[in-house]
Amino acid sequence: MRRPIIAGNWKMYKTIPEAVDFVRAFKSLVVGSTHCEIVIAPVFTAIKTVSDRLEGSNIEVAAQDAAADPGPGAFTGEVSASMIKDAGARWVIVGHSERRQYFGETDDTVSAKIHAVIGAGLSPIVCVGERLEDRDAGRAEQVVEGQLTGGMRNLTESEASRIIVAYEPVWAIGTGRTATPETAQQMHSFIRARLGSLFGAGVAGETRILYGGSVKPDNIVALMDQADIDGGLVGGASLEPDSFARIVNYKSASR
Ligand code: PGA
Repeated sequence: MRRPIIAGNWKMYKTIPEAVDFVRAFKSLVVGSTHCEIVIAPVFTAIKTVSDRLEGSNIEVAAQDAAADPGPGAFTGEVSASMIKDAGARWVIVGHSERRQYFGETDDTVSAKIHAVIGAGLSPIVCVGERLEDRDAGRAEQVVEGQLTGGMRNLTESEASRIIVAYEPVWAIGTGRTATPETAQQMHSFIRARLGSLFGAGVAGETRILYGGSVKPDNIVALMDQADIDGGLVGGASLEPDSFARIVNYKSASR
């Protein structure tokens, strides 16, 4: 059984006081939510404070990125995976499409970051997803396959089993245009099959594959109903305690 994960990606939002306010309200809304793992990814500067406030709770912390070099070293502006761990996070989002699009990240960068994150004992949430022009040209699967094989190379089976994949079609991120559950399911099942050829049936069967791209309280139930969707990576709707809690608590909504 794959335990679902609902992760909130705060992107470049929330000061430390705003993050603390969120945590205070959110904690009590999900206190009884044991059906899934709950993860929040604040900006680097808020990781330590948020982790401290979440200690002993059922919510864990992720970073939104990590340096490709394990460090320590002369890399001005970078934060290493072990420093992220030191600040209290257990997860790291790697290769988000905004990093690929605005900061020139390639599958090579993603691969190096995956190794750095796993090396530090953290779990990478590796983002893949096609752009609209790729989908329109009928090469969505080809693009996602390239990102998977390029990013997840040179990994042992046990390293690969530490990875969480997030399928985030770029055309669905922040646009209000969610992939239909069927479209998402189709790609998730494709990703699982590719993981099978790369790392074997064991890894394929156990890897959690999250969907991301305009996940909202009103579409999470239908998405989670799909056989190969094991959770969500939520941007905009994770910024308000109420809407993020409704997404986390999708189980009670479906009853
Ligand atoms: P969104 O972002 O939920 O605001 O579409 C998702 C993401 O970028 O991870």
